[in-house]
Formats: sequence, structure tokens, C-alpha cells
Amino acid sequence: MVSANADTHLPFRKALITGGNGNLGRLIASELLDRGVEVIKFDIPGTEPETTVANESIITGDIRDKAALEAVFESHQPDAVIHLASLLSGSSAADPSAAWEINATASFELLTLANTFKVKQFFFASTMATYGTDVPDPMPEDTPQWPSNLYGATKVAVERAGVFFKLTHDLDFRCLRFPLVFSPFAPPSAVTAFPSHAFKAACQGGNADPFVFPVEPHVGVSSMLLDDVVQGTITFLFTDKDRLSQPAYSLHGYAVTAQEVLNEIQRRVPSFEGTFEVNDTVNTLLKGWPSVIVDDKARSDWGWSPKYDFVASADWLMSYFQANP
Ligand SMILES: NC(=O)c1ccc[n+]([C@@H]2O[C@H](COP(=O)([O-])OP(=O)(O)OC[C@H]3O[C@@H](n4cnc5c(N)ncnc54)[C@H](O)[C@@H]3O)[C@@H](O)[C@H]2O)c1
Repeated sequence: MVSANADTHLPFRKALITGGNGNLGRLIASELLDRGVEVIKFDIPGTEPETTVANESIITGDIRDKAALEAVFESHQPDAVIHLASLLSGSSAADPSAAWEINATASFELLTLANTFKVKQFFFASTMATYGTDVPDPMPEDTPQWPSNLYGATKVAVERAGVFFKLTHDLDFRCLRFPLVFSPFAPPSAVTAFPSHAFKAACQGGNADPFVFPVEPHVGVSSMLLDDVVQGTITFLFTDKDRLSQPAYSLHGYAVTAQEVLNEIQRRVPSFEGTFEVNDTVNTLLKGWPSVIVDDKARSDWGWSPKYDFVASADWLMSYFQANP
């Protein structure tokens, strides 16, 4: 059955989403299903949703298992790949060799399979961590990518491998680099996600101790709201390839400091208390990242335009946490 919103001019009909049960994967899958695209989610066992919906297949496995992936291509014949499966920065630092296998080697094998099975499009989720921490601010997107951590290094490797397949096999490889994402789903272990955690703490209330910001008050990096990540990605996936003048685009939402996050929360929840206790690792990392990323190309080539500024993101997060305490 095809959704009532089905678009007769779809760029692809069946998308394999790796990491499809993750935060971004679930949301992107739902948007694609709404538009009439069939979805195959591939993710590790234990991540499956409790219920499945029409036109969605859930397959469990490890992305390092090439035979399992090949079987998915053979049995489901996807005509697009949306590659989101990844260890994130904290897990990559904790297990560098797994990070290289999952993020880099398995991605190369997936590109190879996608090319062999002649998919129409291959999307890859990259990150501003590909740029490292000694960059200009505002940062042009053609700034040399010399990441300062392994997570960023694996993501650069895949960007380059994707361009290899684009140049040599005409694979429609396209990639977006996201900045820090304000998300209600940021796990507590994600220390750079303290702005999202602060909004959550303010809505939960009742904290005896003030919320700890692990950076100096003036520190802040380029950020955007999760909803803009999802909508931006969908717009990008649906953009005709002739309009893309480059394979990878960096996105920027807004610049906001830790002090501004605290002020905005206190404007809404006057009883909320925050304190700044510098964690050297987090502070040094975030101080080195730009507060503004120049994303003019995404804006001019395919109409990227974030819907949420910082205040609108704060509204969204407060509403979410009040409805889902
Ligand atoms: N959220 C952010 O702040 C952000 C910023 C920049 C880039 N990204 C990128 O966007 C993508 C999605 O991020 P997310 O926020 O949804 O993270 P997430 O952790 O929720 O999703 C990643 C998914 O990959 C799956 N996965 C991990 N190892 C796997 C393996 N060996 N085999 C199969 N699946 C495996 C996980 O189970 C998870 O469901 C990632 O590639 C991430 O690097 C996210």
C-alpha cells in the first residue's frame, strides 16, 4: 500500500537505510514512507522498533557482515542507500579499531555493493568533526579537512571513497556534514550535547544541584535542531543531481554560546540554575570548532534554509520535553 502523500516523481522507490533504527534513521524513514518510498532498515539486533509499519522492512545484522548486506541487496533490490550506521565520536574514541571497521571499512564495502547493484543514489551522513579544531571562524566549507579525532577521520575517509565511486563509476554519491545537533534524543554520555541535556533538566525540574555546563560561558559551536537535520536531508535527497555542483555540503543553523543557552532557559524557567565547571577535554574540543560554518553553496544549489533559529529551537525542545518528561 502506498501512502496518500505518495509522490509520483520520486528520485528512488526503495531505500536501504543503514542505522535505520537510530535517531536520524527512524525520522528519515518516516518522512520517506510518507512520500511513498519503501524503506528497508538495517541495524544491529536489539534496536528493532516494537511495531512495524506498512512498506517498511526491518533487517538486523552487523554492517561489517558483507554477505548479510549482499543478501539484502539481492532480496530487496533497493535503488537508494541512506548510510547512517556509525559509531559516534564517544564510542569511536573508546574502541578505535571497531570504529575503523564499522565507519570506514564497512562503508567502503557498502559503496562497492551499492555500485555493483547500480543504485540511483547513495547518501552519507558526515560531520563537522571532519574539519578538526584549528580552523577559521567563520569556517568556509573548503577549509582543509584534518580531523582531530578518529571519528572525524573515518568520516573523511568515506567522503573520499564516495567521491572515488562518483568519479570512476558515476555513482550519485552525495553527503551532508552536520554541525552539533540539538536533539531530545542526545544520550547522557554525549558530553558535547550539554545544551540539549540542559533543556531536558530544566523541564524535568526538581534538581537540587545546579546544571553543570562543562565549558567556559563564551564557548559555543555551530549548531542546528534535529528537525532541520531531517528536513534538510529529505530536501537534499529529493534534489535533482544536476543541481548539485559538489558531492558534499556543510550545513549551519546558528551560533550559540553556553551562556546564551543558560540565559534562554532561565528566561523560560527562572528557577533553573546553571554553573560553569570546565572539563578540559570538552572545552578544548568545542573551543576549536567554529561557531559559524559558511553554508552558502547548500543554500544556493539546493535551497538549504534552516527553519529554526536558536530561540525557535529552544521552543521546540521545551515543548518536546514538557510533552515527554
Ligand atoms: N546526531 C548528530 O549529532 C550527528 C552529527 C553529525 C553526524 N551524524 C551522523 O548521522 C548518522 C546518524 O546519527 P544518529 O544521531 O542517528 O546516531 P544513532 O547512534 O542514533 O544511529 C546510528 C545507528 O547505527 C547503528 N549501528 C552502529 N553500529 C552498527 C553496526 N556495526 N551495524 C549496523 N548498524 C550499526 C546503531 O545501532 C544506530 O542505530 C551517523 O552516521 C552520525 O555519524 C550525527
